[in-house]
Amino acid sequence: MKKITIALAKGRLADDATALLTQCGIDCGPLSSAGRRLVVEDPASGVSFILVKPSDVPTYVERGVADLGVVGKDTLMERGSRVYEMLDLGFGKCRLCVAGFPNEVGRAITAFNLRVATKYPRIARSYYAEKGMTIDVIELNGSVELGPLVGLSDVILDIVESGRTLEENGLMILEKICDISARLIVNRVSLKTKGDRIKPLLASMRAVLREENGR
Ligand code: PRP
Repeated sequence: MKKITIALAKGRLADDATALLTQCGIDCGPLSSAGRRLVVEDPASGVSFILVKPSDVPTYVERGVADLGVVGKDTLMERGSRVYEMLDLGFGKCRLCVAGFPNEVGRAITAFNLRVATKYPRIARSYYAEKGMTIDVIELNGSVELGPLVGLSDVILDIVESGRTLEENGLMILEKICDISARLIVNRVSLKTKGDRIKPLLASMRAVLREENGR
C-alpha cells in the first residue's frame, strides 16, 4: 500500500480536520497521543500526519513532502501556492475584512498611503491595488488589532470569526473582502501517482460533507 502524508495545521482547524478524517475511516487516534511529536504515523492505514504551522501547510504540500493538506482559504490566497484546491471543507468559517475605528470608514476607502497592519501583505497589496489606492503595508505576525490601538496603523486587514476581538478593542468591520473556510489541498504530482489512495479519500470526504450539508 502506498503511504500518504497529510499536513495538518496546528490550532483552530485541527479538531475539525481530524473529525472529518475520522469520519472518512482514517484512524486519527495516534494524533491525540502525539504529545510534542511532529510526525505521527499509523502504519495500519498507511497514513502519516505532519503537524505544521497553518501558514506552512501549502509549502509542505506544494513541495510534495505532504500529499494532502488542510488549510484556510486566507492562507492559500496569501501564499498563491501551486497546489490543487480540491474541496471546500465548510469548517473554519470566517471573513476576511478591513477593520478599524468607526471614524476611519471614509479614510479606509479613499486615504492616500493608508497604513494597513496585516498578516496578509500580499492580499492587502492586491486588494488596494485593485481599488487604485497606495498603501503602506505593516506586516505583523499576530495580535494585529493592536495596530490601530497604539497608532501603528490606520486600519487592519485580518480574519474576523466571532467579532469579539474587534468588539473588545473598540474596532469594527469597515469593509468585508470575502468569506473564508478550510480547504483540502493536494499536491499536483501526488494526485496522479497516488490517485488510487487520494481519489477514494476525496470521494468519502465529499460524501461526508454532502451528508452534513443535507442535515
Ligand atoms: C485571529 C485573527 C483575529 C482573531 C479573530 O487571530 O487574526 O485576531 O483571530 O477572531 P474573533 O473574531 O473570533 O475574535 P488568532 O486567534 O489566530 O491569533 P493571532 O492574533 O496570534 O494571529
